[in-house]
Amino acid sequence: MHTYKKKVAMLDVNEAAGQELQVQLNQQYGSEQTQFYKADVSSDQQFTDVFQKILNKFSHIDIFCNNAGIVDEKNWEKTVSINLSGVVRGTYLALDHMKKQNSGNGGVIINVASLAGLGPFPSVPVYTATKYGVVGFTRALAVRTGV
Ligand SMILES: NC(=O)c1ccc[n+]([C@@H]2O[C@H](COP(=O)([O-])OP(=O)(O)OC[C@H]3O[C@@H](n4cnc5c(N)ncnc54)[C@H](O)[C@@H]3O)[C@@H](O)[C@H]2O)c1
Repeated sequence: MHTYKKKVAMLDVNEAAGQELQVQLNQQYGSEQTQFYKADVSSDQQFTDVFQKILNKFSHIDIFCNNAGIVDEKNWEKTVSINLSGVVRGTYLALDHMKKQNSGNGGVIINVASLAGLGPFPSVPVYTATKYGVVGFTRALAVRTGV
């Protein structure tokens, strides 16, 4: 049986936690297997710059997961920027690159939603809206790209 060892790039705003996890994962799976990058997915410039740095180091992306998400009904614009705009941004960054690799057939994009994306959570209407958005965006794009 083959064991495929993939390298992992992690992106998060929490630098302390990211650095710590990088050390732990590299101890467990071998040095240079995991690399942490600090960036805010709600910032077009930061996300795009770090994505380019990741490409420069790894050159190939097999799996791209948009996972960052918050629940903050008070700062609702921030919640939309991270949970929905961040997912759209990350998806297009990954898709643009994946179209060019493996003769245009290469890659998987995973967008993390929630049960709140399938039925309303009355206590968190903005969070619910963003997760409905993630589900709708992902489904529409999957149909369009024929996945
Ligand atoms: N925990 C649950 O019960 C649950 C249920 C359904 C869906 N989800 C979804 O799963 C995902 C992960 O949630 P979790 O529970 O592990 O939360 P978590 O808070 O443990 O992890 C979210 C991570 O996103 C990072 N993050 C926040 N804002 C960011 C930004 N602007 N840019 C980059 N990184 C940022 C945080 O620093 C954190 O490391 C979210 O999308 C969440 O909505 C969680």
